Amino acid sequence: MNGIPPAVLEQSRNLREQLEYHSRQYYVLDDPTITDAEYDALFRELVALEEEYPDLRDASSPTMRVGGQVLESLESRAHSLRMYSLDNAFSVEDWREYTGRTARLANKPEQELAFWVDPKMDGLAMELIYEQGVLTTALTRGDGEKGEVVTPSMRTVRNLPLRLRGENVPAYLEVRGEVVITRKEFELFNERQLAAGGKAFANPRNAAAGSVRQLDSRVTAARPLRFMAYGVGLVDGAAQGPWDTYEHLMQALHAMGFAIAPEARLCASAAEVETAFAELGRKRSSLPFEIDGVVAKVNDISLHESLGFTARAPRWALALKFPAVQARTVLRAIQVQVGRTGVLTPVAVLDPVAVGGVTVSRATLHNADEIAAKDLREGDTVLVQRAGDVIPEVVRPILEERPADAQPYVFPTICPSCGSEAARAEGEAAYRCVNSLCPAVVRESIKFFASKSGLDIQGVGSRWVEAFVDKGLVKSPADLFRITTEQLRDFDRMGEKLAANFIAAFETARVTASLPRLICALGMRHVGEQTAKALAARYRDLDALSAAGFEDLQAVPDVGPEVAEAICLYFENPGNQALLREFKDLGLWPVAPVPAAAAKQGGPLAGKSLLFTGTLSLPREKAERLAEEAGGRIVSGVSRKLDFLVAGDKAGSKLQKAQALGVAVLDEAAFMRLLGSGAKQAHEPAAPQEQLRLL
Ligand code: IVH
Repeated sequence: MNGIPPAVLEQSRNLREQLEYHSRQYYVLDDPTITDAEYDALFRELVALEEEYPDLRDASSPTMRVGGQVLESLESRAHSLRMYSLDNAFSVEDWREYTGRTARLANKPEQELAFWVDPKMDGLAMELIYEQGVLTTALTRGDGEKGEVVTPSMRTVRNLPLRLRGENVPAYLEVRGEVVITRKEFELFNERQLAAGGKAFANPRNAAAGSVRQLDSRVTAARPLRFMAYGVGLVDGAAQGPWDTYEHLMQALHAMGFAIAPEARLCASAAEVETAFAELGRKRSSLPFEIDGVVAKVNDISLHESLGFTARAPRWALALKFPAVQARTVLRAIQVQVGRTGVLTPVAVLDPVAVGGVTVSRATLHNADEIAAKDLREGDTVLVQRAGDVIPEVVRPILEERPADAQPYVFPTICPSCGSEAARAEGEAAYRCVNSLCPAVVRESIKFFASKSGLDIQGVGSRWVEAFVDKGLVKSPADLFRITTEQLRDFDRMGEKLAANFIAAFETARVTASLPRLICALGMRHVGEQTAKALAARYRDLDALSAAGFEDLQAVPDVGPEVAEAICLYFENPGNQALLREFKDLGLWPVAPVPAAAAKQGGPLAGKSLLFTGTLSLPREKAERLAEEAGGRIVSGVSRKLDFLVAGDKAGSKLQKAQALGVAVLDEAAFMRLLGSGAKQAHEPAAPQEQLRLL
């Protein structure tokens, strides 16, 4: 380091250490202790220093993370040890057969086999080579024998160490793992791509692969990739390294600075693996990353050598796959449904097929453009998948199997319910029925009125509301409150008890409806929960709202010209005015507590920020609503500024983070006490905190 003053060297070393430390806190431990802005400031300081003294730069500097190197092509290079694939088990029987066979081969009683189990992540396999503790090469799996050198790209991946941590760092280490992208980041990324006129990726795996195999590493740097370690190749000349068990191997990787899947764990027996597999299957859709099963590895590494490899996979590991999330079936018909706003939504009617353990027989096709873009035709054999493992989706037709007489789909231009014209507004993807009295529109509006987004009439599901409408018992939302026990008796599967519950539920909804709920329940276009709240904070009741003019409405936060116009249109409609009169006569006429804002200020949670995590005994939305009604504000993430984290059962990383940051954590009972403390406050002005039991 000729010509570099010792003080500068020292400063550079110091900055690097700080940046590495904070990077690890953030990306590996999920526990940042400084703000992003503070991190950026340190980073810029190091960049400036390296610009002034270019000799300071080397491959392990955190400044490498921004990318910069542009390659002409990707070079290929042999792996020192082949990167094998994995054999799969598709059922518990497959797994039991495997454990029996493995125990025999290893000459061990089956009960003595323990397994390291980690999620099978759906990304791109990668090998990272560290020499003297510094990342020198990153190689894709390729064909297993040789891969492509993607070192500059991989250096930009934020959560992998450029330099290994700790005392016992091997002189030569090959770490293997999966490059992944979170589902959330994947969706955001796709949205941005589409907005910028680019192409979206089909799934997180393609996104990860496409991002890594970039010649310009600055492109990779802008993609939110993560590296999750799951094993090693050669370590100081030894396959699998010096460790006696897989558990110790993984602990060592973690200590050296690698992220490993938080769900990974040791299972003491084959039976425990089955439990872990089932548990992860249930948690699957709530995990941040896409996974397609688990990988079980014999924990005792001394057995690996004797077990050896088949032509394609190690005998000491097996992937237990979740049932396929894609399947083929026949698209029998495309049905068009009319929604409460008159929108015509095409729905695929499918031959029932199991996808990821759930039978799918219908799937939304969104709109006419979507059908045209995929060129879906009635009679086609199609590929169906459960996106995010929840909502079924038709991916594409399988063209080789298209019947010769299949015709391109023509979207209807008349409403299938009432026969009125269906028109497409300028710039909109949807066709709408123009008839506001369309029976389908009326039925869906009434269903919406009763639903969770509306008055939330407890226990009366949408099927029942539909049945009431179809029988002619209910012709408008107001009719719900006129239903009698005798009328209910006419319905199949309606017992005395259920009928009594329904009547009580209608009555409760009528008496307890708040103004924002009722505004929302009316289903005006563009008026959702937030806007309804804002309107209720300004107008005392529906009369006041209905009398408000176009200009006046726009003074409400959240309300622009489009929303104001929709509100005016709603109240100009004589049918809607008649409905409001009926509500008034029925006593369904909430009045905002005046002034709403002032009441909130005095609420027990006035000015406090809250976040809910884990499972509560009441629905999350309801808890949030209660908190807001008490003057609290719901925020989206844990930070030092958070006033309360309300933790239900099975609270995870948010709880850990809140505890680490010293944020007050409440259990559900403490939260309820806090809500109740507002009422008491007038009489006994004790500080609410004193009544809390902090977890
Ligand atoms: S162990 C020799 N563990 O699955 C052992 N692989 O189907 C090989 N994969 O190419 C790998 N998550 O990239 C292992 N937790 C995990 C994994 C995992 C995903 C990938 C791996 C491999 C493919 C084989």
